[in-house]
Amino acid sequence: MSDIVLARETKPIPFSLTIEYAHLCEEVGWERRNYVEFHEALEGSLLVVTARSQAGALVGAARLTGDVFAATLFDVVVHPDHQRCGVGKSMLTYIMGFCRAAGIKRIYCLADNPESSAYWAHQGWLKIDGYQYAFTI
Ligand SMILES: CC(C)(COP(=O)(O)OP(=O)(O)OC[C@H]1O[C@@H](n2cnc3c(N)ncnc32)[C@H](O)[C@@H]1OP(=O)(O)O)[C@@H](O)C(=O)NCCC(=O)NCCS
Repeated sequence: MSDIVLARETKPIPFSLTIEYAHLCEEVGWERRNYVEFHEALEGSLLVVTARSQAGALVGAARLTGDVFAATLFDVVVHPDHQRCGVGKSMLTYIMGFCRAAGIKRIYCLADNPESSAYWAHQGWLKIDGYQYAFTI
């Protein structure tokens, strides 16, 4: 994990990053996105966090949408070759710090399968309904 560099992406988001992020999502088996729509989603996000290897490869990413009253985490993803090495945890720690600084008190996320549900539960998130989880800061 020490060789991973975290960054908060600034707007405008480069279209090349949108494509990298979309490819990363495909690496974990998520369906291919419409790049233009995904780009708009990234541009409209409150926060886009990326994790890169020293060589510059995108190995993790996450984005937060919403406002000070309620924010939602989307597309939290770590490349299969880098999972279980603390990349996800580092991105979440960064996002929590952002939320604290911005005065955001509650974050939601939607797990899309039993394995990701186990992840959010392990992180201490509260199951609200079905696959929906919440974290109070
Ligand atoms: C879920 C995901 C983002 C986790 O990222 P990661 O970098 O592998 O996780 P970390 O190494 O930071 O793990 C942090 C902690 O969670 C635990 N953990 C990781 N994956 C877990 C899982 N699937 N179930 C339960 N616990 C898990 C780790 O053991 C670690 O525990 P610790 O703090 O007690 O040591 C990553 O596995 C992934 O991209 N999965 C596919 C996409 C996905 O399901 N995204 C989430 C839904 S939006």
